[in-house]
Amino acid sequence: MKDLFERIIKDKGPLGKWAKQAEGYYVFPKLEGPISNRMHFNGKKVITWSINDYLGLANHPEVLKVDGEAAAEHGMAYPMGARMMSGHTKYHEQLERECAEFVDKEAAYLVNFGYQGIVSAVDALVSKNDVIVYDMDTHACIIDGVRLHAGKRFVYKHNDVESLEKNLQRATKMATENNGGILVISEGVFGMRGEQGRLKEIAALKEKYNFRLLVDDAHGFGTLGEGGRGTGFEQGVQDDIDVYFATFAKSMAGIGAFFAADKDIIQYLQYNMRSQMFAKSLPMAMVKGALKRLDMIRTMPELKDKLWENVNALQSGLREAGFDLGTTQTCITPVFLKGDIPEAMAMVNDLRENYGVFCSIVVYPVIPKGLIILRLIPTATHTLQDVEETIEAFSGIRSKLEGGVYKRIAAAMVQ
Ligand SMILES: Cc1ncc(COP(=O)(O)O)c(C=O)c1O
Repeated sequence: MKDLFERIIKDKGPLGKWAKQAEGYYVFPKLEGPISNRMHFNGKKVITWSINDYLGLANHPEVLKVDGEAAAEHGMAYPMGARMMSGHTKYHEQLERECAEFVDKEAAYLVNFGYQGIVSAVDALVSKNDVIVYDMDTHACIIDGVRLHAGKRFVYKHNDVESLEKNLQRATKMATENNGGILVISEGVFGMRGEQGRLKEIAALKEKYNFRLLVDDAHGFGTLGEGGRGTGFEQGVQDDIDVYFATFAKSMAGIGAFFAADKDIIQYLQYNMRSQMFAKSLPMAMVKGALKRLDMIRTMPELKDKLWENVNALQSGLREAGFDLGTTQTCITPVFLKGDIPEAMAMVNDLRENYGVFCSIVVYPVIPKGLIILRLIPTATHTLQDVEETIEAFSGIRSKLEGGVYKRIAAAMVQ
């Protein structure tokens, strides 16, 4: 028999094994100063393209004022306990009413974290006789929710409606045999490459198959659809989404999340979602802060307009400069380049240190070997000057990448 920690200490896992080279710079970097288009990293000011503060609310003076006042009045503890027991307030209810109304559903239920919320909602919605059919590229929280499922699950090829239909046929057979139902799960916006989930086509399959649809709209809420109401509105299929989810961690620049659906379904979640039944309620400062943010999203359409002005300038500028942005249809702006991991690290180092541009880097095993994605998240706080400087910087690093400069730097570092 082994000591449990023996393996853990030796094998740090697929990402952990890079800790020594990457920590503090490529992973766990410290971005400092007020959240905005330019922040401090490693002692220098950089244009920040890695923060999901889409609408620029994180550091908006009106938001800071409400957050500060709520924290001063309630501290960070109130209310104590789980919602069901002692952690419930009229403000939680008000926020739920307003979220539901905003996304045009009968009711909503708050959760403390999107990740845990999704895991727990998937767990609560299906029993062992039910079948889950989900997109291959969905976020880890959906995968983890599916892992808890004691029954059958089928995964369909990413955003491939034909593959979904094939799996729905298998799922229908299985669910019929077991006397269960089917839950289909997609994202509204896929966070890595920026495609929208093909919700319209998925919804159309309801004519032929009997299933319920759960959509994780973490990135669509606030950025897409009329008034920022999300991907369901963008594609005109909000009514076909049976359980709608959005987090407060992106456009709302806060923490927490909500599910919205018919009253009966929300009531079921209130009484069956273990992550909420057995955990402390969302603190009041977050609840009051979220009410303020939602009000600003509703009443300040100029925030979304500014976001999209920046998105359009950045994406068209990069495309004109010859960059491959894949199939993005949203704010998420992935720039696809070719190279190995050491080259990618040398390139990002150059981009941050010498061009003053900070963005996220995605490499194998998240994407296929030999591919590098530099992922940019435009926000309403960016300026056209930021866009211009970034496109110039990207052109600079691309010439060096193609000229083998980063390969040589990486090789020299190994020696
Ligand atoms: C698609 C998607 N779902 C869920 C989450 C989790 O949300 P939260 O940060 O509120 O836990 C995220 C955030 O990273 C996300 O991108």
